[in-house]
Amino acid sequence: MEPSFWHEKWNLQHIGFHQQDINPFLVQYWQELSLPADAQVFVPLCGKSLDMCFLAEQGHQVIGCELNELAVQQFFTDNQLELTQTAVGEHQHYQTEQISVYQGDIFTLPKTITQEVTAFYDRAALIAWPENMRVHYAKQLANLLPCGSIGLLVTLDYPQAALNGPPFAVSPTWVEQHLSDDFDIEVLASQDVLAENPRFTKKAVPWLNEAAYLLKRK
Ligand SMILES: C[S@@+](CC[C@H](N)C(=O)[O-])C[C@H]1O[C@@H](n2cnc3c(N)ncnc32)[C@H](O)[C@@H]1O
Repeated sequence: MEPSFWHEKWNLQHIGFHQQDINPFLVQYWQELSLPADAQVFVPLCGKSLDMCFLAEQGHQVIGCELNELAVQQFFTDNQLELTQTAVGEHQHYQTEQISVYQGDIFTLPKTITQEVTAFYDRAALIAWPENMRVHYAKQLANLLPCGSIGLLVTLDYPQAALNGPPFAVSPTWVEQHLSDDFDIEVLASQDVLAENPRFTKKAVPWLNEAAYLLKRK
């Protein structure tokens, strides 16, 4: 999607993607990554996700990237985190003890920012892109991640014709076809989540699957 789409969503606070609780797959599967507590974890397209707080609570240093300034400000205000703000090139760097967020476009995020990262977490980032942009995003994610880094990817899949994204449907086949050049892929879980998603039931979407993948950057 174009930046203006997301800025409008944040300005109007139409942020149905934002979860009030920590993502259950993150809670259930993060330990599978067997990371040292002080690992640096990259969270692309982080929004104001509370999942960053969960990651910080594990002892990790969290590095987020988010386009919208209001999202970043709300994250730090809502969680009562004192911050410092500096300009780093064209990005604004908001920093507190364990969480850093680079506000700006992921496509221009300098690789030096993520060069010490050993893990990543993508929830509602890959699926935020329509098909024509998704490969471009996936390549940029791979470009930013050091070889050997491991991460959790959470996707949604449903019959795309039944609903306009975002979120866009991403099937296991798409993941295999488009990510396997850059990542080793293991499916951790896949479950029906239609009942918990009224936007999908209201539009009579017949099925909705949430999946978690363990990815390792080759
Ligand atoms: C569907 S939301 C998901 C947010 C978060 N991952 C979560 O789970 O709540 C996608 C986010 O990506 C941000 N975004 C969109 N395009 C971006 C870009 N080019 N660079 C960085 N962030 C972007 C949007 O502002 C939005 O907050």
